[in-house]
Amino acid sequence: MLGIGSISLLPGALIGKTNAAPHQGWNKESMLWEINPLYNEIKMKARLLANENPFGPSPKVQKAISDSISLGNRYGHGDAAYLISMLAEKEGVKPENIMLGPGSTDLLEKTAIVLCKDGGNVVSADPSYMSLVNTAQAIGGSWKAVPLKDDYAHDLEGMQSAIDADTKLVYVCNPNNPMGAITEAGSLREYCKKASKKVPIFVDEAYLEFMDKPEDNTMVGLVSEGHDVMVARTFSKIHGMAGLRIGYLVATEERIKSITSMVRGTMGLCVTSLKGAIASVQDPSFLSDCRKWNKESREFTSEQLHGMGFQEIPSYTSFMIFPIEEEGKGFAKKMMDQGVGIRVYSIADSPWCRVSMGTMDEMKLFVDALKSATA
Ligand SMILES: Cc1ncc(COP(=O)(O)O)c(C=O)c1O
Repeated sequence: MLGIGSISLLPGALIGKTNAAPHQGWNKESMLWEINPLYNEIKMKARLLANENPFGPSPKVQKAISDSISLGNRYGHGDAAYLISMLAEKEGVKPENIMLGPGSTDLLEKTAIVLCKDGGNVVSADPSYMSLVNTAQAIGGSWKAVPLKDDYAHDLEGMQSAIDADTKLVYVCNPNNPMGAITEAGSLREYCKKASKKVPIFVDEAYLEFMDKPEDNTMVGLVSEGHDVMVARTFSKIHGMAGLRIGYLVATEERIKSITSMVRGTMGLCVTSLKGAIASVQDPSFLSDCRKWNKESREFTSEQLHGMGFQEIPSYTSFMIFPIEEEGKGFAKKMMDQGVGIRVYSIADSPWCRVSMGTMDEMKLFVDALKSATA
């Protein structure tokens, strides 16, 4: 069994030798290969493979959506402006600092398109979330991968040295997907201040709100201080609205203007989703409940994994990842045959299982399936 810190962090050139078929969206130079997820919606009793929130959307969001169906003949410009003003107040910035998108994926991709349209490179950690890097590469950019440190935090010194004359931006995912680990906020803040003097820094905070004190860990304050930092957030995770597709970007006014001069933020948004997002921002107690329930599932799962001899990377998110001993695809099939969907990865040629936090009943199904798959 591999333990924490025991994966070797190989340079990009040496990796990718797994037999597993990669998901088409993942970068083949990465030490991280996503093995094709086995989606079987009919068989799945516990859907723990896409980091969705099993508790959402909240009853208030559901009501706001159903009440707004009849508005579907109108564009949602007014609601978008209202949501932006609410988010600006929440984040302590001006409305001009916010751009909305149908999910943060849209904002990751649009940022990559605008900043890397003339080539150049993106600096980011490996393993990490790959949407922005993949888009940058698809349009002619390149990727400078900086391996995570032994504690799975970002190697900020390495990421500073990696910036060169062709670097168009640095991407940081904190907490990171798929490792679930964090990079300490104080040092990340110092890094962002220093590095953003050279290039824009994009901080993806999709899982931030699962942390005990999100407000102490966000980089959003750097935007109002004028640093060239972009912070992405999503309604897909703690708000439980993944299928409703809303996310937002907080950045300097100049940065938002330069992106929106090429691509539009609000035109991809449904009026029903906007109404739902407004209701969700007005319902912080649901978010606190989700944070609590997620933590309970995490603690239960961690305890059960340890009881079976598995060692996960301590998670600050709504998922956790741990090394497994058998080839990933066969393992995922054994789990799916029992109705449990999980995600498998090959990291530096070793197989890992990532499990999203579900309800307690789903986590019990996961534990039973894991026991039988590894018996
Ligand atoms: C780190 C990270 N960023 C962004 C996203 C994209 O989420 P969405 O497009 O639903 O906002 C995900 C989705 O899993 C993610 O894990």
